[in-house]
Amino acid sequence: MTKVLLEVDSLTVRLGHADSAATLVEELSFSVAAGEILCIVGESGCGKTVTARSVIGLNRNEPGFHTSGKIMFDGRNLLTLDEPSMRRIRGARMSMIFQDPMSSLNPLHRIGTQIEESLAIHGDLGRRERRERTVELLSQVGIPDARARIDDYPHQFSGGMRQRAMIALALAGNPDLLIADEPTTALDVTTQKQILTLLERLRNDYGMAVIFITHDLGVVAEIADRVMVMYAGKCVESGTVREVFHAPQHPYTAGLLASIPALNRPKLPRLQSIRGAPPVLSEGRPEGCAFQPRCAHAFDACSTEPPMTSTGELDHLDRCWLLPAQKRHLANAMEVNA
Ligand SMILES: Nc1ncnc2c1ncn2[C@@H]1O[C@H](COP(=O)(O)OP(=O)(O)OP(=O)(O)O)[C@@H](O)[C@H]1O
Ligand SMILES: [Mg+2]
Repeated sequence: MTKVLLEVDSLTVRLGHADSAATLVEELSFSVAAGEILCIVGESGCGKTVTARSVIGLNRNEPGFHTSGKIMFDGRNLLTLDEPSMRRIRGARMSMIFQDPMSSLNPLHRIGTQIEESLAIHGDLGRRERRERTVELLSQVGIPDARARIDDYPHQFSGGMRQRAMIALALAGNPDLLIADEPTTALDVTTQKQILTLLERLRNDYGMAVIFITHDLGVVAEIADRVMVMYAGKCVESGTVREVFHAPQHPYTAGLLASIPALNRPKLPRLQSIRGAPPVLSEGRPEGCAFQPRCAHAFDACSTEPPMTSTGELDHLDRCWLLPAQKRHLANAMEVNA
């Protein structure tokens, strides 16, 4: 059996003080095996970044954030580690690519110097080897003429190149787990493809596990082993990409799939978007299922009781009150089995 690298158990993240605190992530459980690519998807504001920042221990440094549950990484609960221990894990064992490249690149330091510093902290290469490795990393992520650009400052790089430099920085410590938060959204299609290929190669060659956060279900179909769909801070469905894409068990997942052109089947007359918008979590969580106000299949129970997790095939989980036969109909209605 493949080794479980990360096991998140009932992660709950609240922001604010006592009674007025908003629950941004609630009772979230998922795991990532060594060498596995897990994609997290869901509309804007559903808690993907909060989840990622909690796993790598960044929210804990921000005032007002309260995190509970367990984040087991390689046998240790990260939520109980002190900051110096967490700092030893960050960068070396797990690293993160942020939505905004400038949140991890220092504008005052040369790109190469920042990567070389990370190599110095996390490895035992000599000065000259670090420089060579930096050139190699920058080339790997697709920086043209990396040797000539290594001493540039971040502002001398284009947005896409900064994104790639940040990926090189995240890979410098040879992490066991890479958390990539929308790493390719700002990139053109060709570069995006190069980055996805690079991540897959690192997984295949070194067994690096990846949590890949994206809005793009086409990317999920291409690289993920498993997918977790989040809505309003909760996991509403998870399973292998095949299971989830071919037989979605939750109307939200079916809605996301139906609104994606690349995955849409020709039989559908037009793209269908999900009506309405997700709840604003700072204003409190709706009773029952948070998706209920937008759901075409909702019935009485949905507005009173939060759905329990139910299991379909193997580890295909969902949180929806519909009966199994109704869930099968979701897939048929989308023509995904055609
Ligand atoms: N530092 C913060 N202060 C206040 N609210 C926050 C903070 N960070 C996140 N939130 C709130 O938590 C919720 C989840 O945010 P999060 O950034 O995780 O969403 P997301 O799924 O990553 O969305 P996107 O796809 O737009 O990146 C949102 O309602 C957001 O406004
Ligand atoms: Mg985000």
